[in-house]
Amino acid sequence: MHDLIIRDALIYDGLGGAPVRGDLAVDGDTIAAVGAVSGAAHETVDAGGLALAPGFIDVHTHDDFAAVLYRDMAFKTAGGVTTCVVGNCGMGAAPWAAASQMARNMHPEPLPEWKGYRGYLARMESQPPAVNVAALIGHGTARLSVMGTDAREPTGAEMQAMKDIVAEGVEAGAVGLSSGLIYDPGRFARTQELVELASLMHGTGALYATHMRDEGKGLLESVSEAIAIGEQAGVPVQISHHKASGRDAWGLVTQSLKLIENAQARGLDVHADQYPYTAGSTILSAMFRDGRFWFTAPENIVIASARAKREWEGHSVAAIATQMGCDTTQAVTRMLAEAPDATVVVHTMCEDDVRTVMRHPSTMIGSDGLPTLSGKPHPRLYGTFARVLGHYARDEGVMPLEQAVHRMTGFPAKKFGFTDRGVLRTGAKADLVLFDPETIIDCGTFEDPKRLPKGIVSVYVNGALTVHNGKSTDARAGRALRRA
Ligand code: ZN
Ligand code: CU
Repeated sequence: MHDLIIRDALIYDGLGGAPVRGDLAVDGDTIAAVGAVSGAAHETVDAGGLALAPGFIDVHTHDDFAAVLYRDMAFKTAGGVTTCVVGNCGMGAAPWAAASQMARNMHPEPLPEWKGYRGYLARMESQPPAVNVAALIGHGTARLSVMGTDAREPTGAEMQAMKDIVAEGVEAGAVGLSSGLIYDPGRFARTQELVELASLMHGTGALYATHMRDEGKGLLESVSEAIAIGEQAGVPVQISHHKASGRDAWGLVTQSLKLIENAQARGLDVHADQYPYTAGSTILSAMFRDGRFWFTAPENIVIASARAKREWEGHSVAAIATQMGCDTTQAVTRMLAEAPDATVVVHTMCEDDVRTVMRHPSTMIGSDGLPTLSGKPHPRLYGTFARVLGHYARDEGVMPLEQAVHRMTGFPAKKFGFTDRGVLRTGAKADLVLFDPETIIDCGTFEDPKRLPKGIVSVYVNGALTVHNGKSTDARAGRALRRA
């Protein structure tokens, strides 16, 4: 007697092959059989030909604190996500004091404490969220903890202190080290500092993930730096949110993809992730540097959340400057003083580039959603996976649906070392998404971002029903995923 049998589903196994009509049985937290399943079950679901896929793996999240504060993680599970890789862009969950300082933009509320990555992952187990969580170690967090925001190279003692932090994370089972090289203080690190820290993961299977120094005109130099760090440290590389940012850089992705291909041809393990939108999102303070808008023009920068100034949300920096009756430079200075925690949506990419990157076999999907549940967060927080499946794969024909599923299941599972997830086979963990391939679609817009996707019927995490007929249940069946 099985615990659960899902009958008559169109099974996408996560490996990229064409789907097959069949059944799937679950015992406890594990897939017991796939194919034609005989026998009975405590519960039987008739899928009626709907698509059944492995739960989606969001390889690029900033949910370190969200997984603690909002354990239902409904903004993720409603979109079919069953695993989040947290700690991207240099912002990790430890050391706690630096981590909580960096998370303030997203989480003004009081934050619970833990000790080290070990403590963080232990908490994911003692008070689990609804999704599985794997952690990256944040380079920026380590540097902030040891050196504050000093714009200089570390001393020998400081380097050792950062190594101790990274080593604790590796020991605790983190899946890699991330850097955020446009942010303070990550951007003050030279290449060699990153090589030395990444080297601590050599031979463990953990990877180096990076928000590169320059995603604009310096994109190619940045990709080369990322690959060089991986090569010198002897670790796999994950390029975060692969894109060409700003009009002057549009089209460069053709060459950056070539750099990835060349690295792969040399035997290096290099891939990237992408969110399916032509706008990005980050903190306002990263937009303005040395007295100028270095990133993009103020017209393209829209306030997503500003706790002290809700009336700014949804308006561009240029529009707010007009309201203030001053120029954009004066305006942004005032804005940073009045709402230092403001986050922004930045419209800087072109649609052709988004599709070129998406089609490329080196690309997997990651939302990069910022879990600022107030204000107008970038809609990618909710809609990334449904948008790739419904809009890009089905409606626009950018790739077959089974390929799109692969980019969010079996492919990331292999890259991040989740050996028993991301694929529907006997013995794998029962992280499952049942969805309607004809209707699945993201619903959020930049004006109204918090609408949940349509077409996702049910979601199981470790065998527990977590979304039922599109509604979150009380299940909190996530686990800490540690590198084996
Ligand atoms: Zn980033
Ligand atoms: Cu990010």
